[in-house]
Amino acid sequence: FSPVSRNATLSDTYSGTVEELADIDWDNLGFGLVPADYMYVMKCGRGGSFSKGELQRFGNIELNPSAGVLNYGQGLFEGLKAYRKEDGNILLFRPEENALRMRQGAERMCMPAPTVEQFVDAVKATVLANKRWIPPAGKGSLYIRPLLMGSGAVLGLAPAPEYTFLIYVSPVGNYFKEGIAPIHLFVEHELHRATPGGTGGVKTIGNYAAVLKAQSAAKAKGYSDVLYLDCVHKKYLEEVSSCNIFVVKGNVISTPAIKGTILPGITRKSIIDVARSQGFQVEERLVSVDELLAADEVFVTGTAVVVSPVGSITYLGKRLSYGDGGVGVVSQQLYSVLTRLQMGLLKDDMDWIVEL
Ligand code: COI
Repeated sequence: FSPVSRNATLSDTYSGTVEELADIDWDNLGFGLVPADYMYVMKCGRGGSFSKGELQRFGNIELNPSAGVLNYGQGLFEGLKAYRKEDGNILLFRPEENALRMRQGAERMCMPAPTVEQFVDAVKATVLANKRWIPPAGKGSLYIRPLLMGSGAVLGLAPAPEYTFLIYVSPVGNYFKEGIAPIHLFVEHELHRATPGGTGGVKTIGNYAAVLKAQSAAKAKGYSDVLYLDCVHKKYLEEVSSCNIFVVKGNVISTPAIKGTILPGITRKSIIDVARSQGFQVEERLVSVDELLAADEVFVTGTAVVVSPVGSITYLGKRLSYGDGGVGVVSQQLYSVLTRLQMGLLKDDMDWIVEL
């Protein structure tokens, strides 16, 4: 598609939805930015509360070179998805959980944050303004990326005097290039993602820059991503660069407990509830890397990755394989229940779905 003709009929401020679907190849969505029409922008000055936001045309933003986010990494992000149902209705999955997580992260990063209501209203407005970019049912989802950043100028190290909350969106398909096929993980032994007392438990932007070195090295060797161990004992599983991890043994599903160094994933939390509702015993605890040896299945969860099966994990030169190249039965079952809920194909007994 051409950005020029795509934008030709749109006004600078949002004035109502364009109903027809955007003209892109919906069958080949990956996880890359496809610029949509509008972004939501809301500012907060020294007073500490956010004023009314507005929808603006999606595009570059202007920042002072001395902005807190650029100089000292004072920034957070979130990720959630909107799905289009067969009947055309639009569904969000637990958006208030993202709002709450952003508020917790903002407290850690010394930033003011939108209220839950402001956050959810902004998400809804952004999704509706970009409705034509929500993939047809079954072809993917609209990934929603809220950002909170110290946009005011600072020079000495201090919280910024002004903050910007921004939401942009992009239609997406599968996160890993493997699609829904199992991914291959490399256990990183030297570099660490998070430290006790650090910021590993909040979704601050720097956590993600910090994993790029190990991730790039692993990808260069053909792995899909990196699995991190705790930095104290170098023994307990933490998380993968962009997702949480679960280990299946018989009817028991174990996942590292949230203790400040692991991101409290909303998909993680949802999968725990889904698994329990399906009769599994779920344990949140320290999970030793040795337990990977005896596991029947391993899978990862996240908004972007959804539920992705793990086909192999390489640890200290040894490759442990799971399944025979296919998707494990437990991973498949949990993936299926979660995504059917998210797409409005199962009754929402948990009250997780927000319909627009
Ligand atoms: C998400 O799953 O939404 C994330 O924030 C992970 C990101 C690295 C894509």
